[in-house]
Amino acid sequence: MSKQEDIDWSHLPFDYHKTDYNVRCSFDGEKWGDIVVTDSENINLHMAAACLHYGQEIFEGQKAFRGKDGKVRLFRIEENCKRIQDSARGLMMEPIPTDKFIEMAERVVKLNARFIPPYGTGSSLYLRPLEIGVSPRVGVRASSEYLMVIFATPVGSYFPEGFNTTKVVIYREYDRAAPCGTGRWKVGGNYAGGLRATERAKSHGYSAALFLDPKEKKYLDECGPANFFIIEGDRYITPKSNSILPSITNISLQQIARDMGLKVECRPVPVEELAKADEAAECGTAAVASPISEVYDSDNDVHYVISKDGKPGPVVTELYHRLQAIQRGEAPDPYGWLREIDV
Ligand code: PLP
Ligand code: COI
Repeated sequence: MSKQEDIDWSHLPFDYHKTDYNVRCSFDGEKWGDIVVTDSENINLHMAAACLHYGQEIFEGQKAFRGKDGKVRLFRIEENCKRIQDSARGLMMEPIPTDKFIEMAERVVKLNARFIPPYGTGSSLYLRPLEIGVSPRVGVRASSEYLMVIFATPVGSYFPEGFNTTKVVIYREYDRAAPCGTGRWKVGGNYAGGLRATERAKSHGYSAALFLDPKEKKYLDECGPANFFIIEGDRYITPKSNSILPSITNISLQQIARDMGLKVECRPVPVEELAKADEAAECGTAAVASPISEVYDSDNDVHYVISKDGKPGPVVTELYHRLQAIQRGEAPDPYGWLREIDV
């Protein structure tokens, strides 16, 4: 293995950093081919490719961590695999076979081992799998050929604030997805659809827009880049809706919350229930568990102040530390969430 890259590991942004290799696999209309390793950062595409015109693009995000014991582990990669297969079915794309996806993920970690941040820096190696429809299409129909790519990039905190509170904002004039649309799949178009809200939120100092259920605008859905949960007394409450991306971090935190003796409720959460929240957070692979101090309902000019002193609450803090401890091999992995990679 070549020597560890010379990077300021503790101050990495959540952004693209060039690594050595990425891995690719193509579906030719009948079968998936062999995994190809390349150092090219570019994809050669037909200008009429279905992904460019009709949005057949899905992706994933997961992390590999270097543990306290020096070992490298991927977190719940099988869940990401199931989700990208589900996203593929949702967009009439070809689901990649499980063994192929997992082999690609393992190989990209091994091939870029010198970019896996050291233990204790708070950073990790983020994997970004993506699948696109590549057949030339002018009439609207599904592609018959597909390309799956997984690249890796070392990342730090998603929010520059790190593990500190941020504020989020509700704007009823934007949705990220339609009520029976693509919100439950990890589709690039959902993020494009949410960008106007996201950019507006950021320009006003919020970390994200908090979207409502697009049908009735009565219930909380999720944030632009992450799921949302609140803590009310001894309850972990997270929204249930057809337009939310099922977050692997959220289901993991729910399990940890149960282990901490909390009750877990996954149900429609009316906006006004924010007034009862003791704590709130955004959660996701990139966001981990990012505490929220205030939700501003801009349409009704209501400030739901969740943390009066602006500090993260005790339950979110414990959830965050417990999850990180499992991911970094500091605590046991009782549910088999980690896959050790021999780098
Ligand atoms: N919701 C959205 C819209 C996301 O982009 C993400 C990130 O992947 C999540 C939720 C969190 O999902 P996960 O915890 O699986 O990363
Ligand atoms: C992730 O958390 O992995 C995501 O894909 C969210 C993205 C907006 C960075």
